[in-house]
Amino acid sequence: MFEAPLTGIRGTATLRPLEPHQAEEFAAHMDRAREHIRPWVGPTFVTTDVDGARATLQRYADAAARDGNRIFGIWLDEVVEPVETTPTSTLVGGVMFVEFSAAAGTCEIGCWLEPAAAGRGLITAACRMLLTYAFEERHLHRAEWRCRADNVRSSAVAERLGMTLEGVLREAWKVGDTFYDKQVWSVLAGEFSPSS
Ligand SMILES: CC(C)(COP(=O)(O)OP(=O)(O)OC[C@H]1O[C@@H](n2cnc3c(N)ncnc32)[C@H](O)[C@@H]1OP(=O)(O)O)[C@@H](O)C(=O)NCCC(=O)NCCS
Repeated sequence: MFEAPLTGIRGTATLRPLEPHQAEEFAAHMDRAREHIRPWVGPTFVTTDVDGARATLQRYADAAARDGNRIFGIWLDEVVEPVETTPTSTLVGGVMFVEFSAAAGTCEIGCWLEPAAAGRGLITAACRMLLTYAFEERHLHRAEWRCRADNVRSSAVAERLGMTLEGVLREAWKVGDTFYDKQVWSVLAGEFSPSS
């Protein structure tokens, strides 16, 4: 399967499509990520077993087959002793087109990481690759980013990507019995630079 190296990050990592046959690896990763991401992502994404993980990946595979939403994993290389051995590669998170419509010219990007992989620039680099694909290869016009208004690390990614905060949807994000404000960020094709 193809893979693309992530550049400008701390460490060595690659972006690859995440597919149903990787359900067991995805479920093991979800065990490491679940409690970290639960407050910040949609509830259907936070699965608890291999069947749930496979259902997530199958949902994206079905959508991708219709040229819709897509999901990609980030594999981080870790050097193990002795250093001359091949580094191990671990699925640590990913990015996705939560929405993707060539007809409408719009998409929405989402992301997640397990805690050990945070603070390396992985997500910003991976999102730049998705935006480059959306704007330069597919000629979409607008990409959105939606996050809980108090999700500081997610807002920081949107800002690093050169997105503009367009507004706040009041109490539009429900977690348990609590409603949180939701931010809407976007970048237009003419505003995006892969190196920004
Ligand atoms: C949102 C989330 C993915 C962001 O992760 P992140 O690690 O902050 O984002 P990036 O991978 O882009 O890394 C950026 C960080 O790495 C640092 N960094 C970037 N490039 C670097 C490099 N080459 N070397 C070292 N550090 C680097 C940045 O300084 C930044 O850290 P800072 O914010 O403390 O300054 C993560 O917080 C998460 O998984 N949250 C839970 C799920 C979630 O909220 N998903 C989004 C729903 S809308």
